[in-house]
Amino acid sequence: MNIDYKLLMDTAKEASKMSYSPFSRFAVGAGVLAASGKIYSGCNVENSSFGMTICAERCAICKAISEGEKEILAVAIYSPNADSCNPCGACRQVMYEFQGDNEIEIITEEMGNLEIKKMSEFLPFGFKI
Ligand code: THU
Repeated sequence: MNIDYKLLMDTAKEASKMSYSPFSRFAVGAGVLAASGKIYSGCNVENSSFGMTICAERCAICKAISEGEKEILAVAIYSPNADSCNPCGACRQVMYEFQGDNEIEIITEEMGNLEIKKMSEFLPFGFKI
């Protein structure tokens, strides 16, 4: 499938506006392309009990999976509060769970330019049962 990286990043940017991050004041948005071709958005959702916070990537992935998606092709991540925003370790593991035969592509914006990397660059030797 031809991946529209810019569209995915625009989705992440739009979603970051919905961020609920009163504690860290660090907004994050994510755009997830599923194997069906549909794009899902997500933002970070913090909680007064800090450890309950859900990252933007996991929010978007859960939306996709709960809508019946089985596989994820690409994930774009954006924060208006950083020059670039890489996925945390927990999100990398969750992405890896839904990787199909082709490696998930991870899109970030580094100083205004799109950076496209493979899942294995972020999580080599990932764990899967
Ligand atoms: N955050 C994400 O949403 N995604 C990441 O991959 C990194 C961290 C959020 C969690 C928390 O709300 C805020 O960024 C600061 O850690």
